[in-house]
Amino acid sequence: MRLAQLDINHVRNLVGAHLECCPGINCLYGENAAGKTAVLEAIHLLARARSFRTPRIGDVIQHGRTSLTVVAQLVDDNGRHIITGLDKSVSSTQIRFNGARITRRSEQAQNLPLLIITPDSQRILAGTPRERRHWLDWAMFHMEPDYIGSWQNYYQALRHRNILLRKGGKDEQFNPWEKAMANAAERIIVLRRGYISRLQEGLQQCADGLFKGVKIAINSAGDGKETYLNCLRTQRDNDIRLGHTQSGPHREDITFYTNGHEAGKTLSRGEGKLFVILLMLVQAYEYQTKKREYPLILIDDLSVELDGKTREVVFALLSALNMQIFITTTTPEIRKVKNTAYRRFHVKQGKVTKMVK
Ligand SMILES: Nc1ncnc2c1ncn2[C@@H]1O[C@H](COP(=O)(O)OP(=O)(O)OP(=O)(O)O)[C@@H](O)[C@H]1O
Ligand SMILES: [Mg+2]
Repeated sequence: MRLAQLDINHVRNLVGAHLECCPGINCLYGENAAGKTAVLEAIHLLARARSFRTPRIGDVIQHGRTSLTVVAQLVDDNGRHIITGLDKSVSSTQIRFNGARITRRSEQAQNLPLLIITPDSQRILAGTPRERRHWLDWAMFHMEPDYIGSWQNYYQALRHRNILLRKGGKDEQFNPWEKAMANAAERIIVLRRGYISRLQEGLQQCADGLFKGVKIAINSAGDGKETYLNCLRTQRDNDIRLGHTQSGPHREDITFYTNGHEAGKTLSRGEGKLFVILLMLVQAYEYQTKKREYPLILIDDLSVELDGKTREVVFALLSALNMQIFITTTTPEIRKVKNTAYRRFHVKQGKVTKMVK
């Protein structure tokens, strides 16, 4: 899916912004506070009906206005033209896709898949295990159709077990919930491991010459259903003392390594940013391979923390991807990107204009 045209109204400082996008790399260049990130925010809103910067839509709607709109003309991978639009106020959200009203955000997320990289994305390396699980779950929900069912079953059984732990349930009350947890956990673990190992393989290829010894490890709750079930049973007394379940997919964590060291603890800011960009690009590639559909890629503040040489590397990787990409930058770089459509837009005081090369 690619954006051919985009119209944005009343998102932050953008009023009547119109972009004729190219199918390759679209570079939004401008000074601080021009409205560059607001353009990415508008695309994200259209795809996910929420901002990536704040959960409060009132902060995103232009001051003095009560609603925002984002409308796009899309071209799908078969060349079909589709119109999609979002109209959002504090109390209501209306989404239309190809003439139909969309009532579930997840449906629109499937219609318009995207991946976003912001300076905060580095938290995947150095943030909390919860953030990494969230990142992994989000990817899995979109990649593996049966993941969500197992995930819901697991969390439902976990909640029941935790209630029993706190109120002092009997063995026979624990047994069915622990079995349900073990059944669901087995599937979750298999799917997560499969995905992580495919990401690792892709990352090793993509990082060749940039990072040595790339590895992604997932600390699993146990191998197989029986092992995990035994683990739950042996830990039950301890869990009763603590009042919650200590191990399982809800406690898994992912660790990224380069050259035998934890990436989150050793990489410099620039290296970390490059690593995360590579990881996201591999995710995008993985999505395309599995779903036979190209996701959009949004990169906010590409130039920040990357030196000129690393930016060249990133541009070469982006152009090899053959996906539609939106980049914001404060650096007025002019590039010839081989075999890839490339368009620059100048963003100034909430206005977006196409730049002549
Ligand atoms: N609800 C709002 N209504 C109007 N303007 C807003 C609103 N929220 C933020 N702004 C302003 O919109 C402008 C554009 O913000 P944006 O974050 O898009 O800038 P940017 O071009 O990405 O800048 P930077 O390079 O600093 O990241 C800023 O001046 C900001 O203060
Ligand atoms: Mg910005």
